[in-house]
Amino acid sequence: METRVLPFSDESVEEAARLIRAGEPVAVPTETVYGLAADATNAEAVARIYEAKGRPSFNPLIIHVFDLAHAQAIADLGKQSLELAGKHWPGPLTIVSPLKPGSGIAALATAGLATIALRMPNHRAMRALLEAAGTPLAAPSANASGSISPTRAEHVVRSLSGRIPLIIDDGPCPGGIESTIVAEINGGLRLLRRGPLEIAGAVEGPKGAIEAPGQLASHYAPSKPLRLNAADASADEYLIGFGEVAGDSSLSPDGDLVEAASRLFDLLHQADQSPKPRIAVARVPEEGLGAAINDRLRRAAAPRQ
Ligand code: TXA
Ligand code: MG
Repeated sequence: METRVLPFSDESVEEAARLIRAGEPVAVPTETVYGLAADATNAEAVARIYEAKGRPSFNPLIIHVFDLAHAQAIADLGKQSLELAGKHWPGPLTIVSPLKPGSGIAALATAGLATIALRMPNHRAMRALLEAAGTPLAAPSANASGSISPTRAEHVVRSLSGRIPLIIDDGPCPGGIESTIVAEINGGLRLLRRGPLEIAGAVEGPKGAIEAPGQLASHYAPSKPLRLNAADASADEYLIGFGEVAGDSSLSPDGDLVEAASRLFDLLHQADQSPKPRIAVARVPEEGLGAAINDRLRRAAAPRQ
């Protein structure tokens, strides 16, 4: 794939919005770092972020919104969260809140969690793209897995050239450090990631407090035992298929890893809710996005403490 680098302009933003609507990820600067943005409501588009970054695991992503109304359409922001949003948005603050049912956000974007990390960015390029694309944008930093966060278009070129169709170049990012992340839990503010903003009263850790059941489990895992590399199912198993293994449902009948990644969390939830007490999953090849899929499946299969 040829990667174009275009300076920020009405035309480049329109081209980026067209690519976003077509399900492609596009690199765009924010006030913190360059982000690799994709339509957060399109699971395959989100899967392509992971494919481009070559990230060996799925983590919940930060979802960027144009304004507070969009944030409130997606999530239930608590009283303190709304105060923080009023004070710091648009800006380098990410707020984790309960996801609203029917929000339309792809489960892969939140890694299957019942909460969502939202941020209203303050950079003309990202804001113009949010407006032109007309959809919330999932955007982690625009670098390949394991390399440092990009603060200039050249950094993105070095890291992701050939893997994404377009980079919007609007010069160096003014910030350079990824946003501060907070969550409102039981009336208190938790600091989940330090960043450019100091949030008065936000308490760091202990991690256990935010990972208690029903709160902010950092990773979704089904509640039932899960068996990997299954060729077929026993009577008490719900089988998630892949390729030739059909199953009760399939990650991808054609063996397409982008499709498989895009369906992973939906099917894990479906299997968890089925009447069968156990889950089996067909073998997924350990290549490309398959590595991230298998990482998540192995965690889901690991015995619980
Ligand atoms: O400055 C930034 O925030 C940059 C620019 C591009 O906007 N974006 C960024 O996104 O850093 P990302 O997706 O790499 O950040 C992911 C972080 C992880 O630490 C993840 O654990 C946390 O956000 N996160 C996302 N959803 C979460 C949730 N539901 N609960 C707790 N943490 C969450
Ligand atoms: Mg990052």
